[in-house]
Amino acid sequence: MFKRQFWFGLVAGLALGAVLRQRRHTGLTQTRLDEYYRKRASFYNLTDYLYLGQFPRITMRETVMDMLDLKPGMRVLDFACGAGANFPYIMERIGTTGKLVATDYSQDMLDSAHTQFVLGKGWTNIELVQADAAEMTFDEPFDAVLCTLGLAVIPRYEKAVDRAWEVLKPGGIFAVGDLKESTRWYTLPLRFITDLMDVMIIADSTRRPWEWMQANGDNYQFRDLFHGYFYAATVQKPQV
Ligand SMILES: C[S@@+](CC[C@H](N)C(=O)[O-])C[C@H]1O[C@@H](n2cnc3c(N)ncnc32)[C@H](O)[C@@H]1O
Repeated sequence: MFKRQFWFGLVAGLALGAVLRQRRHTGLTQTRLDEYYRKRASFYNLTDYLYLGQFPRITMRETVMDMLDLKPGMRVLDFACGAGANFPYIMERIGTTGKLVATDYSQDMLDSAHTQFVLGKGWTNIELVQADAAEMTFDEPFDAVLCTLGLAVIPRYEKAVDRAWEVLKPGGIFAVGDLKESTRWYTLPLRFITDLMDVMIIADSTRRPWEWMQANGDNYQFRDLFHGYFYAATVQKPQV
């Protein structure tokens, strides 16, 4: 009897895993994302305070900032900026002489960022732009470009990376912080949790954009965070 239940459970588990993994790819559409973020825009930044023994999203942001090494006066692009959770970290570093251009597909997320940081903090050197990251273009290049928790979500994320690279000055830094599938041995039995989470939060944590960064830039750096479920990576665009 026990034997039959075991085999039934195993087959059901494998089938559910396969469905979840398939759904992770087919469910990641711009329409679903826009609807998802519309509902969450006004309180989205509170997600940073989700306590999992640590605050992994805050650690990821701080690590990205340490690796980016922004300086006063820099011109920075934060794409898929959401409700502006990175803005305090960026503004503290670039100061009033710098310029932050922040883009997102969701107008609701941008409105929330505007209310919290442009109106709320009076930071007038922030320009908010509604744009699909896969299509973004700008008149002036940037000293630094970053994207946190965006590349696992943006449907055409490879195109977005191309656009980001294009608008970065030679010698400028490109930084990414995001979710990823953990490859640490003790997390392997929990793989189905990542599959389920991806479906629930409309993301694909199996993407590996850092491989592109490593192959295309100089001074590549990578940090594995929170048991391998998050990472921060930076790379410098080669001087021409
Ligand atoms: C998980 S949130 C991350 C927000 C923010 N970067 C952060 O670290 O809190 C993902 C963001 O990607 C945006 N997004 C989704 N598709 C996009 C696209 N094609 N172009 C630009 N932004 C997009 C969503 O609207 C959402 O604000």
